[in-house]
Amino acid sequence: MYLQGKHILLGVTGGIAAYKACELTRRLRDAGAIVRVVMTRAALEFVTPLSFQALSGHPVRTDLFDEQAEAGMGHIELARWADAVLVAPCSADFMARLAAGRADDLLSTLCLASDAPLAIAPAMNRQMWANAATQANRDALGARGVSIFGPASGEQACGETGEGRMLEAAELVERLSALFATGALAGRTVLISAGPTREALDPVRYLSNRSSGRMGYALAEAAREAGARVLLVSGPVALPTPRGVERIEVESAAQMFDAVMARIDEVDLFIGAAAVADYRPAAVAGQKIKKTASQLTLELERTPDILAAVAAREPRPFVVGFAAETQDLEAHARDKLSRKHLDMIAANDVSAGRGFDVEDNALEVFWADGHASLPQQSKARLARELVALIAGRMSGA
Ligand code: PMT
Repeated sequence: MYLQGKHILLGVTGGIAAYKACELTRRLRDAGAIVRVVMTRAALEFVTPLSFQALSGHPVRTDLFDEQAEAGMGHIELARWADAVLVAPCSADFMARLAAGRADDLLSTLCLASDAPLAIAPAMNRQMWANAATQANRDALGARGVSIFGPASGEQACGETGEGRMLEAAELVERLSALFATGALAGRTVLISAGPTREALDPVRYLSNRSSGRMGYALAEAAREAGARVLLVSGPVALPTPRGVERIEVESAAQMFDAVMARIDEVDLFIGAAAVADYRPAAVAGQKIKKTASQLTLELERTPDILAAVAAREPRPFVVGFAAETQDLEAHARDKLSRKHLDMIAANDVSAGRGFDVEDNALEVFWADGHASLPQQSKARLARELVALIAGRMSGA
């Protein structure tokens, strides 16, 4: 369930189990993942890149020094693209290269260059697996946080029986999926606001902003993965509801205020990621405004501040605001943090083409006595980092 929309970099190394990676690719896609395959030179002896290209729907990379491929998605971009890297099958040789920190082909380089979780599914002859060198490599990789899936015991391609078979595709998909389920917000209820609001001028026109909802929806998904029950109060956006999330649709700031307040007593955490209009037309015309005068002046009035109202409640949930700034990011964010009595604020630079309606973002997060920088990355990954940070603060870590 947690693989929906996840970017999975599947590394295939040389071994007879490489053919099983074909089924794995298909199953990962069935689980909703977007899969890109990288093969080592040895893997090419067992399966063709064309098979993986057809199954993954993307070109397969095999070479670090392929100018044409680098012109598309370069290896560093590919490393950043991945939400998780799974090497399956992982040969004894590749384990040794990983343990030694080698970067002598594309796959080993990607494993070093990516900060996404790395998992391996060892597959080899039972003696090779049992060898002290392989066992030491396994221990070293495990100690560094690499997830080691298997191997299973059973009959081997070489005719022997013992430990060394690659886990079946279905089990690998389950184990990989579980990597995304952190449990950091288990037992908590979270309410997240997302997207823009629309403030009507007349029956057909409104004032709004460029928020796509991506940041708030990514937070909803990350909070869900962290084990929370998630309520998402959303302005009008063109995004599907993340699985397992309860979505409440609104249009205006006033409706968003009412929807948030109606559910706020249920929640332990409120995250205000919506770009709520600060002003709305003081009067909404009953009929379409006619183009008669050469100039038209609109009178605007303030909308209710949802975030401040949530923070003013007693008792109140843990309250995290956003700050969208084009200058003096820290000063403005810290001002909002203290003026609105927030527990935390995530500030983003929204000058010229940043923050709003783009895939990537970066956040500077402030709380009373601390600060964290979450660097430029996909909103999905950023959301996971922010949720982990919030969960840590909530539990007093
Ligand atoms: O949706 P995307 O395209 O992914 O873009 C993401 C984003 C840029 C919209 C998001 O990262 C973001 O910054 N959201 C907050 C935008 C905003 O309105 O910032 P602000 O600095 O104007 O408001 C400060 C805080 O007060 C925000 O948490 C906002 O939700 C809240 N607010 C503002 C006005 C109001 N009437 N009520 C509020 O609760």
